[in-house]
Amino acid sequence: MTDQRIAIIGAGPSGLAALRAFESAERAGTEIPEIVCYEKQDDWGGQWNYSWRTGIDQYGESVHSSMYRNLWSNAPKEALEFAEYTFDEHFGRPISSYPPREVLWDYIDGRLRSSNAKDKVQFATAVRWVQYHRDTDTFTVTVEDLKTQTTTSSEFNQIIVATGHFSHPNVPGFAGIETFPGVVEHAHDFRGAEKFADKRVLMIGASYSAEDIGVQAYKMGARSVTLSYRSKAIGHVWPQGMEELPLVERFDGSQAHFVNGEVREFDAVVLCTGYLHKYPFLPSDLSIHSSNNVYPQGLYRGVTWQNNPKLHYLGAQDQWFTFNMFDAQAWYVRDLILGRAPLPSADERAESIEQWTQRFKAIASEAEEIQFQADYIRDLIEQTDYPMFDLDSVVEIFQAWVNDKVENVLTYRDKQHRSVMTGTLAAAHHTPWLRELDDSLQRYLSTPPKDELEKLLDQTETAASAKTT
Ligand SMILES: Cc1cc2nc3c(=O)[nH]c(=O)nc-3n(C[C@H](O)[C@H](O)[C@H](O)COP(=O)(O)OP(=O)(O)OC[C@H]3O[C@@H](n4cnc5c(N)ncnc54)[C@H](O)[C@@H]3O)c2cc1C
Ligand SMILES: NC(=O)c1ccc[n+]([C@@H]2O[C@H](COP(=O)([O-])OP(=O)(O)OC[C@H]3O[C@@H](n4cnc5c(N)ncnc54)[C@H](OP(=O)(O)O)[C@@H]3O)[C@@H](O)[C@H]2O)c1
Repeated sequence: MTDQRIAIIGAGPSGLAALRAFESAERAGTEIPEIVCYEKQDDWGGQWNYSWRTGIDQYGESVHSSMYRNLWSNAPKEALEFAEYTFDEHFGRPISSYPPREVLWDYIDGRLRSSNAKDKVQFATAVRWVQYHRDTDTFTVTVEDLKTQTTTSSEFNQIIVATGHFSHPNVPGFAGIETFPGVVEHAHDFRGAEKFADKRVLMIGASYSAEDIGVQAYKMGARSVTLSYRSKAIGHVWPQGMEELPLVERFDGSQAHFVNGEVREFDAVVLCTGYLHKYPFLPSDLSIHSSNNVYPQGLYRGVTWQNNPKLHYLGAQDQWFTFNMFDAQAWYVRDLILGRAPLPSADERAESIEQWTQRFKAIASEAEEIQFQADYIRDLIEQTDYPMFDLDSVVEIFQAWVNDKVENVLTYRDKQHRSVMTGTLAAAHHTPWLRELDDSLQRYLSTPPKDELEKLLDQTETAASAKTT
């Protein structure tokens, strides 16, 4: 058991959950296998490790993070809170329900800051290829040290893939877009909406990126924001200056023609068309081939590759729950690896996959999808010693959040929710989200002078009274 070697690929929230899971077993006196975590960036945090760069990074690698300036949590932090490291423990006082990126990075980092987890991570090291050997039941992992540009290979008994799936953009084409004279970018390359001030902006897509980048553009003073949907409108009560139209049929110069016959003129287009599951370091028979959904095929209990149960994925699902789901997955995978959780036979695993797949296929609404993910997490936690938490109350928090957004997408981040882990009610942030232009940790934790806040609140009231449907 202990002469096993485990490779974790990626040190974002999922990879860090795996490091934490093993660390917690070790703290409790269990001998753990040798663990090597490969991370291609210079620091951990995955998506939360912001980069101003787009396209290619300083090492010539594709930039991983799709996050941008002024990105605040898009769901209540009470829905993602770790069950064994709470916000109260980290910040020592209540904070608001929708913190900005740097604050959440600090929370993720803080959980492992005082451990020896960093010693297990090889930073600036990209995994290039993973090869399975049937005869020895082991994997060869070939990596490149990006600083020295040297490749090396070593052997592992099990692999945990934690590379995320919101980094390889899905970029569809649209007739005539090649001669659109303004900026055309994918959400992956969007870094801030200041450039959209006084511009007419088109978001193509009807999910989180379209909604949030659209609202960012509004916040930064865009003249108009149009969202274009393919299957289903987001359907919020949009503020004046924002609207939703069906899909773009074609572009003609700076004009977009929509399938319902409407025509609009734009200065910029953001393709908020989602991401591809892509694992360029894995052969196709070990890779997920799926759309972005809550039950990608081929994974027993959503983590273990059915056709090779020594390969595991964390965070491969579309995500309502995030950090605490990654924990539940990591604890379960750890226990499989430690032999604490039995690995059922291939037939039993197939039967389990089939049952969950049937339930997944029957999902008919957003509410059912949230409940599905809560039940999925409950099933995982029941197999481990990860602290069980009140998942049904988190489902209610999600429902309240969905309703708040439909009602007013500009103010939902000013609402407060109660932690199911500690019972703590979130603080009200000192500044309404719409008026807050500084997303730094320092500003977030500060107490701005009263007169500055009064001025901001006056502006907010004026903006709110101008809001119509
Ligand atoms: C724009 C955006 C906003 C989001 N906002 C929120 C939010 O508000 N709240 C929320 O809960 N979730 C949010 N998410 C969801 C986000 O996916 C999760 O919070 C979380 O970051 C997923 O963690 P992960 O570790 O699975 O993947 P990632 O965070 O993507 O981390 C994967 C890691 O793997 C590394 N890696 C990739 N390939 C290799 C390789 N070949 N070799 C070595 N290392 C590699 C990457 O560098 C990265 O560090 C957002 C996602 C996006 C794209
Ligand atoms: N913190 C934040 O504020 C924030 C901001 C942005 C993103 N995120 C996170 O980032 C992740 C990804 O979100 P996402 O919105 O980028 O991706 P997503 O949820 O996968 O949605 C992709 C969208 O693209 C549309 N689409 C795909 N192909 C299309 C085509 N050919 N034409 C038109 N539309 C097309 C889809 O439409 P269909 O419905 O028709 O398939 C869908 O609306 C989520 O986890 C989200 O939480 C968070």
